[in-house]
Amino acid sequence: MDDQHEHGTHSGGRGAAPGPAAEDSRNARPTSAFHTDNITDSMTDRLVGALDAQAASAGVRRLREWAHAGLAVRPGERALDIGSGTGSETRALAEAVGRSGEATGVEPNPGLRTVAGQRAAATDSTARFVHGDASALPVDDAAVDVVWCERVFQHLSEPDRAAAEIARVLRPGGRVALLDTDWATTILYPGEAEVVAVLTGGALAAAANPHAGRKLMGQLAATGLEIDDLGSQALIQDPRKVSWPLIRALAEKAVQEELITGRQRDRLYADLTAAAERSALHMSVTMFGVIAHRPG
Ligand SMILES: C[S@@+](CC[C@H](N)C(=O)[O-])C[C@H]1O[C@@H](n2cnc3c(N)ncnc32)[C@H](O)[C@@H]1O
Repeated sequence: MDDQHEHGTHSGGRGAAPGPAAEDSRNARPTSAFHTDNITDSMTDRLVGALDAQAASAGVRRLREWAHAGLAVRPGERALDIGSGTGSETRALAEAVGRSGEATGVEPNPGLRTVAGQRAAATDSTARFVHGDASALPVDDAAVDVVWCERVFQHLSEPDRAAAEIARVLRPGGRVALLDTDWATTILYPGEAEVVAVLTGGALAAAANPHAGRKLMGQLAATGLEIDDLGSQALIQDPRKVSWPLIRALAEKAVQEELITGRQRDRLYADLTAAAERSALHMSVTMFGVIAHRPG
């Protein structure tokens, strides 16, 4: 099967994706660093490992449960998972819509698409995966009943375009769950205030749209969708399991850029290690969610 286009076991149905708009999507300008074919196996392995770890975290599981309950997907519906990653939520949607429905993951990263297709096949899921970009979905107007889009907007340089695409593909009465992180909610404790500020600033600078979480509701409302519910969950690292690779990467970069000294970095590591041993370390970032529907 062509890796650029679809994976999974189910390719029939009423054409939630790809439709005539598919050609537009393939010609679309990349809108995030994820949208590239230069992905190596080790990069894919690292991404899959990170996504699996996030999926296992209590905060992500709770926010997903809330969002699935809010969408209340029914058998026979057509569902779209934008930026489907490893396909975990596409498979959940496929189970909800059943064999009479259709669940499609749209994913620009070919490595993730392959993994998602393999996992769907291994679990006998009808979820299918296609190449595409959130800013030009390969789906006809009003073609789907339900959209899921989780932790994708933070990667987009033009999230308003993606919100407009969600509104375009939903049928009147169709529902969306839009979930994302807001990196300005990052808490790292303990640590010297100046050093923590540099590191959290580094986390903000690393995302194309770091304040994604706080903008979701307004972006959907601006497209004419009606907001039904709002939710949030802090993703809190278990201090007993923290190896803080992100903190280390941000701290090393900050030293290289002479934003903090090597001594400040070493003191931070010592403070965090000592706090973790007393279960007193706190690292968290908050995710927000919006459930909305297209009126009519
Ligand atoms: C943090 S991962 C989240 C994956 C999945 N939604 C989840 O929650 O597990 C971000 C996902 O967005 C995808 N992505 C990035 N830019 C995208 C774009 N322009 N259009 C669609 N998906 C995109 C990435 O390839 C990746 O799968």
